[in-house]
Amino acid sequence: MKLFGRKFGKVLFLGIITGMVFVGFFYVLYNPESDESLYNVPHDVDKVWTEKQEAKSTGLTRVMASAPVNVLNKMEESRHLVVNKTREPELPILVWWAKVSGSKDHTAQCGSVQCTVSSNQSLLGHPNTQAFLFYASQIIPYRLPLPRKQNTLWALMHEESPKNADAMFNFDETLSLFNLTSTFKRESDYPIPLHFLPSLEWLENQKFMVSVQQKNKLRQQGLAPVMYVQSDCGAPSDRDTYVKLLQKFITVDSYGPCLNNKEFPKTLKFNRSMAPMHSDEYFEFSARYKFVLAMENAVCDDYMTEKLWRPLNIGAVPIVWGSPRVKDFLPSNTSALVVNDFATVEELANFIKYLDSNDEEYKKFLTFKKRGGITNEFLLTHLRNRDWGNRMYPSQRTKPYYSFFPGFECFICQKVHTINEKLERGEKVPNYQASLSHYGCPVPKKFNDVGKATGNSENWIRAWRSGQNMGIAMKHFYSQNITVSRNIYDDYWKKLKNEDKTNNFLQKQMEQ
Ligand SMILES: *[C@@H]1O[C@H](CO)[C@@H](O)[C@H](O)[C@H]1NC(C)=O
Ligand SMILES: *[C@@H]1O[C@H](CO)[C@@H](O)[C@H](O)[C@H]1NC(C)=O
Ligand SMILES: *[C@@H]1O[C@H](CO)[C@@H](O)[C@H](O)[C@H]1NC(C)=O
Ligand SMILES: *[C@@H]1O[C@H](CO)[C@@H](O)[C@H](O)[C@H]1NC(C)=O
Ligand SMILES: *[C@@H]1O[C@H](CO)[C@@H](O)[C@H](O)[C@H]1NC(C)=O
Ligand SMILES: *[C@@H]1O[C@H](CO)[C@@H](O)[C@H](O)[C@H]1NC(C)=O
Repeated sequence: MKLFGRKFGKVLFLGIITGMVFVGFFYVLYNPESDESLYNVPHDVDKVWTEKQEAKSTGLTRVMASAPVNVLNKMEESRHLVVNKTREPELPILVWWAKVSGSKDHTAQCGSVQCTVSSNQSLLGHPNTQAFLFYASQIIPYRLPLPRKQNTLWALMHEESPKNADAMFNFDETLSLFNLTSTFKRESDYPIPLHFLPSLEWLENQKFMVSVQQKNKLRQQGLAPVMYVQSDCGAPSDRDTYVKLLQKFITVDSYGPCLNNKEFPKTLKFNRSMAPMHSDEYFEFSARYKFVLAMENAVCDDYMTEKLWRPLNIGAVPIVWGSPRVKDFLPSNTSALVVNDFATVEELANFIKYLDSNDEEYKKFLTFKKRGGITNEFLLTHLRNRDWGNRMYPSQRTKPYYSFFPGFECFICQKVHTINEKLERGEKVPNYQASLSHYGCPVPKKFNDVGKATGNSENWIRAWRSGQNMGIAMKHFYSQNITVSRNIYDDYWKKLKNEDKTNNFLQKQMEQ
């Protein structure tokens, strides 16, 4: 200290404190919009949110407690700046009513316009609240933002399997309450069918690829041609039934709890029979297989997940059971085997055997991995045009939004601004109306003995009808503009259920 003198020491000390304070402010001010982890899907939403808030405020409080007076004055000044910045009285407000994890209050900068995005339900009656955002699986049908003012948009988002939201979203009764949607379906207003595909370079990447020669060697050592890993047995898509049929004709190594006949090596096992699915080791392990079963838990247009994209990434040929329109998005005409293309499961098994013993034919299914091998313009265009991307990949870095959550918020924000401009000019407000084509999925079918999904399933018909009744009950109280207690809602829903019983609804459906 002697070396610098007291004055310099004091200046240095103040400098450090001021620096800390401003770093703190910078963090609080600018972090919310950039914290990508905030949007990671549910489920203990409130807890995550509160913990993050607390972590930040305690850090700042500590700095404040030890800051000298003139620094505090500076902070007071900056606080005014903050207040002025966040209290923009003109900004429209979007409220996450059924919220996702980390739907944290912030100002969304959407091109040239802005909106306040909040999950504070007290803003229901605020004059600037112009849209409610709903994450489908978090909706409570008897707790809606009512009464609904004119021109208040209701926007529905769900990228997950329809299985994870109640079956009520498969019906117009429910969807008719909403204006705009963002789902895996291309027909939705802000479609996200490729939300599991990070980028084109990821799809082309050859990092995990195993040569056919090597695969043949592994086959001789007893590795099956086909791999199956599933943890969710008894899914609506009835995939386990299909795999069981396939096993009559060809060997399938099945590692998950469903149809399990193989164990993961110890290093891959982290919980009973499931592997840590995102580790390189797991990718390497799977890449040794020639074919990987890519069977979604639900069969619904454009519903595609990592089950499809991962085999394509590692250079194994996916055997696809999922979106009936999956070919629209496949990298090329020869990059996957699609269950629907085969009249019977035996035909599929024969084709697998054929490719297994014809290296040149098998290799054709991997030509898309070569530079320029991805020929599907529809896929390329969709990836190019989406306005959000995963910033870990160069081709996605220039996208305005780092994920589809902020992208969706901005999509709605821009619509709200459009409506306001129209109203100001006395022009007609556009009509936005969600419908079944935006989200709905058909009642799941059962596989018959030869592997065609044609059979009625009593359980799923019941589940779908139950969802429809939920939607009818939801719309019933919505139309009266009132929020009711859970009991009143349940009573109404049960009444509908009893009416179905009286009318033999289930029996009639089964006979169709
Ligand atoms: C912010 O608001 C405060 C209090 O209303 C006011 O004194 C101050 O001048 C404002 N600052 C700016 C930059 O507008
Ligand atoms: C929610 O908004 C109300 C009214 O604007 C406000 O009084 C309250 O403090 C807010 N709550 C939170 C958690 O921000
Ligand atoms: C619901 O209530 C709001 C506010 O009272 C009113 O503006 C709106 O017209 C009502 N809607 C229906 C369908 O009654
Ligand atoms: C392990 O499996 C059990 C039972 O399925 C589950 O309850 C638990 O959450 C799992 N643990 C981890 C770390 O995934
Ligand atoms: C796939 O094949 C069909 C007909 O066989 C052809 O019309 C289409 O252009 C091909 N698509 C691609 C991406 O090669
Ligand atoms: C939004 O949807 C509701 C319910 O269908 C409808 O009454 C309203 O007119 C729609 N708003 C716009 C702006 O399209």
